[in-house]
Amino acid sequence: MVKRKTSIKPSPFPEPRPPRIIVLILAAGIGKRMRSRASKLVHGLAGKPMIRYVVDTALALGAERVLLVVGSQAEDIRVAVGSKDPRVGFCVQDRPLGTGHAVLCAEKSLKSSEGTLLILNGDLPCLRVETLKKLLAFHKQQATPLTLLTAVLPEPGGYGRIVRNYNSDVSRIVEATDAGPEEEQIREINAGIYCVELKHLFHNLLQAGANNAQHEVYLTDLVEILRKNHQKVAAYCHPDPDEVMGVNNRDELARAGKRLFRRKAQELMEAGVTFLDPECTYVESNVRIGRDTVLAPMAFLTGETVLGEGCRIGTGTRISDSLLNDGVEILDYCVVSGSRLGKEVRVGPFAHLRPGTQLDESVRIGNFVETKKTVMGRGSKANHLSYLGDSEVGDGVNIGAGTITCNYDGEKKHKTVIEDGVFVGSDSQLVAPVRVRKGSYVGAGSTITKEVPPYSLAIARGRQVVVKDWAKKRRKPSS
Ligand code: UD1
Ligand code: CA
Repeated sequence: MVKRKTSIKPSPFPEPRPPRIIVLILAAGIGKRMRSRASKLVHGLAGKPMIRYVVDTALALGAERVLLVVGSQAEDIRVAVGSKDPRVGFCVQDRPLGTGHAVLCAEKSLKSSEGTLLILNGDLPCLRVETLKKLLAFHKQQATPLTLLTAVLPEPGGYGRIVRNYNSDVSRIVEATDAGPEEEQIREINAGIYCVELKHLFHNLLQAGANNAQHEVYLTDLVEILRKNHQKVAAYCHPDPDEVMGVNNRDELARAGKRLFRRKAQELMEAGVTFLDPECTYVESNVRIGRDTVLAPMAFLTGETVLGEGCRIGTGTRISDSLLNDGVEILDYCVVSGSRLGKEVRVGPFAHLRPGTQLDESVRIGNFVETKKTVMGRGSKANHLSYLGDSEVGDGVNIGAGTITCNYDGEKKHKTVIEDGVFVGSDSQLVAPVRVRKGSYVGAGSTITKEVPPYSLAIARGRQVVVKDWAKKRRKPSS
């Protein structure tokens, strides 16, 4: 093979190589305080399982490996992590004997590794990449075997307390369950985020016992062990304690979820999206929204939803996995899932667009209309009380109030085709499979079972019978 000369010269200032960093995530706990059958780390908040936030953050940091310690619910955790990234791996802690024991279970998997290990509790969904970068930089600067991330809380509750000596150096961490009354008053807490040099980790941690209130091997004992061996432990105190809150129970789950929704709203507002009330509008992390779109309170946007520019989303509307073009307006209390909406489409209030709905530009869907696997052409309307399922509707079609496509015969689904320019009168049923050809009219109240030819009128209803004076005769003569 002939080697081609490349015209790109290497830059005189090469980008600094990101530090080689391995992340170990502790995910084998049973999460008692959650009172759940499932691991607390698979519980969802703001659209993702808790553990996935931590894994995504570790990957975004540029970790060369992300190793999770998993336990009895390993399979659920693997599913929740869902990552196909080859950097993600797993190792097993058979029994949840404590955070220190969990780290020891990773020794084999890390035996050929060196450098800095970043250890993260798995229950830190709000943790940001920027914070980890600051911690790593601080750790490098301090050049200590271990650096802790700490925070100061007005009410330190169940967190491990950072005990400092007369020089203000970190001397140990005492767990809330083991703390005496004085230690309990300490407001600086351990966040469960540690930078440790691998060469100082395992042989030291092996010295930790389980002589504590929970009879567990604590990772936090590493601090005291290193200090006894005359090593220094540094602490990076993070100014935002909410970001590093551990999620242990349902109350904390709700609070962390709220915080993540609020963070997403903030990002979107900064990018030009209007939230009438960002405190109670819920946009999941993967959703994308164009500028000048306005979201009313209690709108819920989930999954892989994308909204264009200048859309308006009403109160109580839920949109999942859908694509809305510019200028779409969804009025109050609609449910839209798996649908694609063209420019200037207007929907609702109280409409239900189910998967497979595809509405071209300027389509109108009004109140109490349900669509499923239905394509509607440009400018077509179904303004009131209809069901359109498995149907193909052309351009400029008017679907009258109460029109139903009867798509299901009890065994199979069938298709209804309504071609361009058709006018379907109110309260009609179209019994599929059936086709209404171009430009024709269906009389109100018809039950259409056969193809309607182009430009014709189809009426399929009982003829009106008028019995003259019938009511008068029925009435008893008044005496
Ligand atoms: C831990 C810290 C505490 C700190 C707090 C921060 C210890 C002993 N305590 O307490 O100092 O203030 O986090 O949020 O580390 N896990 C395992 N295997 C186990 C036990 C736990 O993998 O045997 C995992 C859990 O799944 C979880 C993480 O370790 O992701 C932390 O466990 P958790 O029980 O939440 O620790 P805390 O009591 O919150
Ligand atoms: Ca915790």
